[in-house]
Amino acid sequence: MKKIKIFDTTLRDGEQSPGCSMNSREKLEMAKQLEKLGVDVMEAGFAASSPGDFNSVKEIAETIKDSSVASLARAIPADIERAGEAVKNAAAPRIHTFIATSPIHMKYKLLMEPDAVIEAAVNAVKQARNLVPDVEFSAEDATRSDVDFLARIVDAVIKAGATTINLPDTVGYTTPEEFYKFLTDVREKCPALDDAVLSVHCHNDLGLGVANSLTAVRAGAGQIECTINGIGERAGNAALEEIVMALRTRKDIYKAETNINTTEIMRSSKMLTRITGVKVQPNKAIVGENAFAHEAGIHQDGMLKNKQTYEIISPESIGITEKNLVLGKHSGRAALKARIEELGYNISDEELNVAFKKFKDIADKKKKVYDSDIEAIVTKETVEIPKTYELVRFVSNSGNTITTTTAVCLRKNGEEIERIGTGDGPIDAAFDAMGMIVGRQLNVEDYKLQSITEGKDALGDATVILSDPEFEGKKKPRVQGRGLSTDVIEASLTAYVNAVNKLIYEENQNKTEAAKAQK
Ligand code: KIV
Ligand code: ZN
Repeated sequence: MKKIKIFDTTLRDGEQSPGCSMNSREKLEMAKQLEKLGVDVMEAGFAASSPGDFNSVKEIAETIKDSSVASLARAIPADIERAGEAVKNAAAPRIHTFIATSPIHMKYKLLMEPDAVIEAAVNAVKQARNLVPDVEFSAEDATRSDVDFLARIVDAVIKAGATTINLPDTVGYTTPEEFYKFLTDVREKCPALDDAVLSVHCHNDLGLGVANSLTAVRAGAGQIECTINGIGERAGNAALEEIVMALRTRKDIYKAETNINTTEIMRSSKMLTRITGVKVQPNKAIVGENAFAHEAGIHQDGMLKNKQTYEIISPESIGITEKNLVLGKHSGRAALKARIEELGYNISDEELNVAFKKFKDIADKKKKVYDSDIEAIVTKETVEIPKTYELVRFVSNSGNTITTTTAVCLRKNGEEIERIGTGDGPIDAAFDAMGMIVGRQLNVEDYKLQSITEGKDALGDATVILSDPEFEGKKKPRVQGRGLSTDVIEASLTAYVNAVNKLIYEENQNKTEAAKAQK
C-alpha cells in the first residue's frame, strides 16, 4: 500500500471562503482537532496577509506536535521571511510558496515574463530552504499552464531545494481523464519530480475536486490537499472526508492508505460547522445528515437482513456512535464529564463548570438529555470570549393584529440597560431592542434556528451571523453567535448577545494587533 499524505488547508483556503472566517481561538481549536484527526500537514494560514494571521499561524505552530504546520507565502522575499518567522517553532515547520504559471495569470495578473517567474520561484525556494528544511512549491493554475514550461519551473525549484511540488487545479477546470494525462506528461518531462513528493490541490468548480484528486493518486501523487466539509474559495476544495473514505473503501483500485484516524471525521466536520455556522448539505457524502439514512422500505428491509446490502461504509468508521446514553436532572458532574469524554471531547475544569451549568438548566426543562444535547453544550466560546453584554430578561408581546414589541434587558459592567424594540415578530423586535442597547444597528447576515433533538421539549439551537455596516477596514469582521434554550426566543437572543460579544472582542483584538504592528 502506498502512503498518501493528507495536507489539510481548512484554516487557509477553507477560511478564505465566504462565511467561513474564524478568529484565532477558533483556528487553534480546529487545529487541535486536525491534529487528532491525523493530518500529515496543516496549512495554518497565510502569515504575511495580516498581523492577525501571522499570530494565529505562530500560535498553531507552537502548539501542534504531531502534524507539520505550514504557512502560505507568495514568491516574494517579505512573504517568505514572515512565513519562516511564523512557523519556526513548529515541531515540523513547512513553508509553502507559490507563483502562477499559466499564460493568462502571468500576463494579466503578475505582469511577468515566464523567465522572470522561474527566477522568482527559484529565489523564493532558496530563501525558504535557508529557513526550514521542508519547502513546498505550488505552480498556481498549473492545469492551464503549458506543460513544457511547467516541467522547466518544476525542475528548477526542485534543484533549488523544494521537497514537495504541488500542481493545483486552481479554477476547478480539469477533468479526471485530462488530469491523469497532464500529471503523467509533467512527470515524463521532468524526471527530477520522482525525487520530490507530487501533490495536487483541486478546486470544485465543476464538482470534480474529489474525482480529480483520486485520479492523481493513480498518476503518482503522494500528497493530496483538501479541506474539512470541502470548504474553500468559490465552490470549495476537494473534501478531506470524501478522499480519505474513498481511498479506504476502494483500496482495491487505489492501493493506497492515509494516516487519518477516520473515527475523528464526524467530530471534525461538526466542529467546523459549529465554529463557522456554515452547515453541510443533508445529502453531502460521508458527513451529511442523510449519508447513513435509509428511507425506502426495500432498503430498510435489506439493511435489517444484512447491513452490507446498502451500506458501503459503516457509520462507526467515521465516528458516529449508536450509543445514546440518556442523562437527566439527577445526573451529576462526574456523569456529565464521563459522557463528554466518551463522546471524544477534552474538557478543562473551567469548561466543565460552564457545561454543567448549561446542562442543569436544560435538564430542568427537559426530562431527558441526549448525546446531541450534550455535544451542543460543549462549546468553548462561553468560556473564552469576554462577556461585555449578558442577557438578563426579555418580555415579548406579539400577535397578528398588533405591532410586535419586545423589551430586552442586558447587563453591561454591572449596569442593567433596557430598551423596547418593534419589528416583524418577536425576534425581529428583540434584535431591534438589542441594537438600541449596543448603540449600533448591526447587519444580521444570517439567522438560523433548528432543534437539536425531537419532541416538543427539544433544545432550540439558534445561530446569528452579524457584521457592522459601518466598518471601514480591509477585512470586515463577520461573527457568528450561538444560543441554546428550550425557548426559541431566548435561544435567539443569546445567539445575538454572543455574536455582539465576539464582535467587540474581535474589534479590540484588531486594534491591539494594529497598534503592535505600528510599533
Ligand atoms: O488554488 C490554488 O492554486 C491555491 C494555491 C495557493 C495552492 O490555493
Ligand atoms: Zn486553492
